Amino acid sequence: MEELSQSFRALGDPTRLRILRLMARAPLNVSELVSLVGVAQSSVSHHLGKLKGLGLIREERQAGFTYYSLALGPEDARWPLIRLAREAADEEGDLARLEDLLRQREDRQALNERLLEPGQSWFLWAGALASLLPALDVADFGCGTGVLSVAIARWASRVWAIDQSEVALTQARERAAREGRSNIRFLREDLHRLSLPSGERDLVVISQSLHHVESPPAVLAEAARILKPGGKLVLLELMPHDERWVLERLGHRHLGFAPETLEASLREVGFGALTRDTHAREGASPFRVFLITGVKQS
Ligand SMILES: C[S@@+](CC[C@H](N)C(=O)[O-])C[C@H]1O[C@@H](n2cnc3c(N)ncnc32)[C@H](O)[C@@H]1O
Repeated sequence: MEELSQSFRALGDPTRLRILRLMARAPLNVSELVSLVGVAQSSVSHHLGKLKGLGLIREERQAGFTYYSLALGPEDARWPLIRLAREAADEEGDLARLEDLLRQREDRQALNERLLEPGQSWFLWAGALASLLPALDVADFGCGTGVLSVAIARWASRVWAIDQSEVALTQARERAAREGRSNIRFLREDLHRLSLPSGERDLVVISQSLHHVESPPAVLAEAARILKPGGKLVLLELMPHDERWVLERLGHRHLGFAPETLEASLREVGFGALTRDTHAREGASPFRVFLITGVKQS
């Protein structure tokens, strides 16, 4: 009974009532309460001490902050008090400010999760790991506007950026110049019939180009031909899909590939030690990608 009457007395203070009403909705730390209620930190701390002393709230450490939350549930004799606090008119606009604060908190949390996720810095990771490779002579099949060619040129001894489109090559050349990469040779050629000599390249990369070509097996055979024995191939392609609009709008000739089909073609033209990795679907995208690596057998 004594506790009950003390609790009622404690809530006779309007600021304390406001603090309790906020905490009934979400755990909050002292500086959040200061910004929500608009009173000095020392005053908020004093009120929290009082509420904690009465067992109305509890504290919990999280990520270096102390969060305060309601410590009692509907079975407690003082619950009607909390209900009254929750239902009291919000003349100061505390609840609107709380909503804002919780939204900002969610944004911060989403950002933190993205930053902590290793994939967030995949470009730096890829560059750092690739810099540990010996300086390779690389052919980029269907380089398009050269994003990948330029990235590879950071760690390769030389990149052969090959595309049949002059428009794409012009953009790729501009990109290379902007980034000061002078180790890229641009070839305007058809991937089915390359002028590069046989057996001299260390690595061929084919990123999303194979679904554009007339004969994927013939292009894979060209990759095998220009590689040294032991040379490597990295191939990124789309899984089979039903998005027929890409045929006309994007000039695709193939609606993705079953990885097994490309693996069979690769074995046929002389690749072995094949690995395959299929990427999970991203958001609502109808496209999934897979990556195959292989080694030209000697
Ligand atoms: C989707 S882009 C790929 C760009 C780049 N590899 C990437 O991943 O960002 C496909 C490129 O392949 C080129 N291409 C298609 N068929 C080709 C062929 N037979 N010979 C050379 N390039 C070809 C196109 O011009 C286009 O730039």
